[in-house]
Amino acid sequence: MIIDTHAHVSDVKFDEDRETVIQRAFNSGVDRLIEISCEMHYWDKALELLKRDNIFAAFGIHPVDATHATAIDYSKLETLVQNKKCVAVGEFGLDYHYGASPQNIATQKESLVKQLELATKYKKPVIIHCRDAYDDMIVFLKEYKNIPKGVIHCFSGSLYQSEVFVEMGFMLGIDGPITYKKSDILKQVVLETDISKLLTETDCPYLAPQKYRGKRNEPSYVVEVAKEIAAIKNMSVEEVLQITTQNAVKLFGI
Ligand code: NI
Repeated sequence: MIIDTHAHVSDVKFDEDRETVIQRAFNSGVDRLIEISCEMHYWDKALELLKRDNIFAAFGIHPVDATHATAIDYSKLETLVQNKKCVAVGEFGLDYHYGASPQNIATQKESLVKQLELATKYKKPVIIHCRDAYDDMIVFLKEYKNIPKGVIHCFSGSLYQSEVFVEMGFMLGIDGPITYKKSDILKQVVLETDISKLLTETDCPYLAPQKYRGKRNEPSYVVEVAKEIAAIKNMSVEEVLQITTQNAVKLFGI
C-alpha cells in the first residue's frame, strides 16, 4: 500500500488515457492519491476526479500563475478549499526559476500570504512549492507567525535548509529525482531526515524516476521513490511504505 501524495492527473498529458493510468495505479498497489490542482484552468477537471473514492485533492494557485490570478479566482479557490475531499491548500509558494522581477516576487508573496491564511481559516495543511527560492522562503516563514502544518513539496534544497523546514514542523516531499545518480545532496537529506518526516510523491506527469526517465511520469511509479528511500536508509521497502503512508494519513487526514 502506497500513497502518491502529489499527482497532476488532470494535466493535458493524461487526456488520452487518464482512466487507464488511474486504474494502473490502483492495480499496482497505490491505495490513495492526492490530485494537486494549482492551475485555475484545471480546477473543474480535478473536481471530476473527486467523484472517485480514493482520489483526494489540494486546490491552490501556483506562484507562476500568481500574477494573473484575480479576486474572482481567489474567491473560487475559497469555495474549492471547503470541498469535503479537499485535503490541503496548494501547491503555492515561491518560484524564481524563470527570473522573477521585484514586482513579481511581491505578487508571489501576497499570493503566499492569502493561501496560508486560507489554510489556517479552514484548518487544512499546506503544500508548498519552492523553486530556486529556499533562502527567501525560510526568511519569509520565519517572520510569518501562524504557519500551518504542511509539506515542502519536491524538496531539492540543502541539508541545512531541510533541517530548518523540519524544525518549523514541515514534512519533506520526495520525488523521482531521488533515484537520479547525481542527486547526492538529496540522498544525504533523505539519509539524515527522520522517516516520520518524509512523504512519497510523483509530481506526475513531470520528474519520472530513473527507470522511466525521459518518459511521462504517472502515479504507479511512486513505488520507485519508496524503493530508493529504503535503499538509502537501509530499511525494507515494506517498512518505508507503511511509515510514509502513516505520515500522509497523519498530515492530510485521508
Ligand atoms: Ni506539482
